[in-house]
Amino acid sequence: MPVQIIRNDITKIKCDAIVNAANTTLLGGGGVDGAIHRAAGPDLLKECRTLGGCNTGEAKITNAYNLPCKYVIHTVGPVWRGGNNHEEEKLISCYRNSLKLAKQNNCDTVAFALISAGVYGYPKQQALQIAVNEISSFLTENEMLVYIVLFDKDIFSLSQKLYGELCSE
Ligand code: AR6
Repeated sequence: MPVQIIRNDITKIKCDAIVNAANTTLLGGGGVDGAIHRAAGPDLLKECRTLGGCNTGEAKITNAYNLPCKYVIHTVGPVWRGGNNHEEEKLISCYRNSLKLAKQNNCDTVAFALISAGVYGYPKQQALQIAVNEISSFLTENEMLVYIVLFDKDIFSLSQKLYGELCSE
């Protein structure tokens, strides 16, 4: 099954794991991270406090508490600094490490937020291309249903132009 691109609020998705765009503290923030912590409830932050943070490009898994999924995978995307500071390599690592963690935890369905494409300023089209390429490459060798969940109308319209066959509203 190819990767599916959908427009939704990731906190509403019923699946095994959702992937959060976190920061290195893993102690919450704005954007999708804030929305996930709000919907999960305070026990998520309690568990995150035990994890000792997370390096850029890596991923850690927690329970999902009040969310309709089983797990939250927290990955830390790179901050965009013009493109010559290993941003692409780090963003690729986020997808690889998150998918690896999902597989190790027997997840069959996983939903990704578009990592680094908000506050961290990664150009949205490039962030989307990396997401589609990395997930597609993983799916050639692994059985999993993977969604990229887009929130903004503009990026969803762009994805319909670039990857129409992968998109559903
Ligand atoms: N569901 C799905 N996607 C969402 C949602 C949602 N509920 N809310 C926002 N997005 P961002 P980053 C999209 O800024 O760029 C936080 O403060 C959003 O439109 O959440 O990796 C962290 O703590 C965008 O396309 O993450 C870090 O400090 C995408 O999610 C920092 O922001 C990612 O945007 C991480 O920045």
